[in-house]
Order: sequence, then structure tokens, then C-alpha cells
Amino acid sequence: MKKTKIAVFASGTGSNFDTIVRERKAGHLNVEVCLLVCDKPEALVVEKASQYGIPTFAFEAKSYENKEGFEREIEKQLKKLEVEWVILAGYMRLIGPTLLQAYPNRMINIHPSLLPAFPGKDAIGQAFDAGVKVTGVTVHFVDEGMDTGQIIDQEALRILDSDDRDSLQKRVQEVEHRLFPATIQKLISERGNQNEKKSTH
Ligand code: GRF
Repeated sequence: MKKTKIAVFASGTGSNFDTIVRERKAGHLNVEVCLLVCDKPEALVVEKASQYGIPTFAFEAKSYENKEGFEREIEKQLKKLEVEWVILAGYMRLIGPTLLQAYPNRMINIHPSLLPAFPGKDAIGQAFDAGVKVTGVTVHFVDEGMDTGQIIDQEALRILDSDDRDSLQKRVQEVEHRLFPATIQKLISERGNQNEKKSTH
């Protein structure tokens, strides 16, 4: 079966990026990771991509006049590689109209809370500080808002009395690393990929 071409956008450590690549190598994810897009050239995820031999577009926002400037450049790279789906995995910027229009309903994000609770930064810390007993992970489509797009899947996780922020973070990330690849695979197999669609018409 033809592999669906994806690009991963990330700004930090890249544990979700790493999981996606490993799941692909293990044959559980029928994708080709064509490109890493990163807005922090010194981020750990850039090193990970280089170890895997995955091409990277790393940029600094301040080198461009505005968001439209760097998003046009990203779009050019994505189109050149015929990327079909964009996967946000810890990309710390809101997506602007340029990329939203280029990938309508083809861009998803993972967020470490049960949205709509605790959107934005440090969702795990927000949940911990709020004293809620259950948190979790959400995978959702991306729109112009902050973690506001249509929810695709969620998994809940009980916060234990023994948890501190670190242990909670570790357990939330374990859920992410299971839920994200599984959701990507499900979406792609349900919706096919654009190249396959083109070839059937
Ligand atoms: C994850 O918790 C993800 O849900 C959030 O950013 C974090 C990225 O972690 N959007 P990593 O870089 O994949 O380790």
C-alpha cells in the first residue's frame, strides 16, 4: 500500500516525533516522514531528525518579515515534497491562514490535556495546579485558535495522589506515544491519501 507523505512540525525535545518515526520503522504506521519543520534550530528534535536522516527545515521567525513570510516558505517546501498531512507535535506557534488554507482538514495536533480543559502552554502543570483528578491527551484538527479545532480522539488518565508534576508528565507522555501514532494511522487509513485519490479519478 502506498505510504502517506507527512511532515512533522516540532519545537522541542521531539519525543512524539521520535515515536512517529519508530512506529513507522516498526511497520505500524504507513507513512513516509518527508520533513521536520522546526522554528528552533537548536532544538533537540533537529538532532533526532538528523540521526534518522530525515530532512529538516529549521528557521527563525525573526528572519522573516511576518508569519506569512515563513509560512509561505514552509508551504513551498511541503508542496515540493508532495506532503499530504501535517502533524504538529509540540510546535509552539499558532498556524496562520497561509498553511491552514494549504492543508484544510489535513493538519492535526496533539495536546496534553482533555480539551477544552487547559489549552495553551504547560497543560500538564495547569491540570496539576487545578487539582483535577483526571486529565489526559487530545488529538484534534488544527484551526486558527489555540487548541480549539475539532477533536478526533482523547484518552483519559487518572491523576494519582502520589503524582508530582514529573511523574504526571511521564505518564501523560506515555499516553501520547500510544495515542498519537494510532490516531494518525486510523485517520490516514479512513481518509486515504491525496495521491491515491488523484489516481482513481
Ligand atoms: C507534548 O506534550 C505535546 O502534547 C505538546 O507538546 C509536547 C511535545 O513534546 N503539544 P515532545 O517534544 O514531543 O517530547
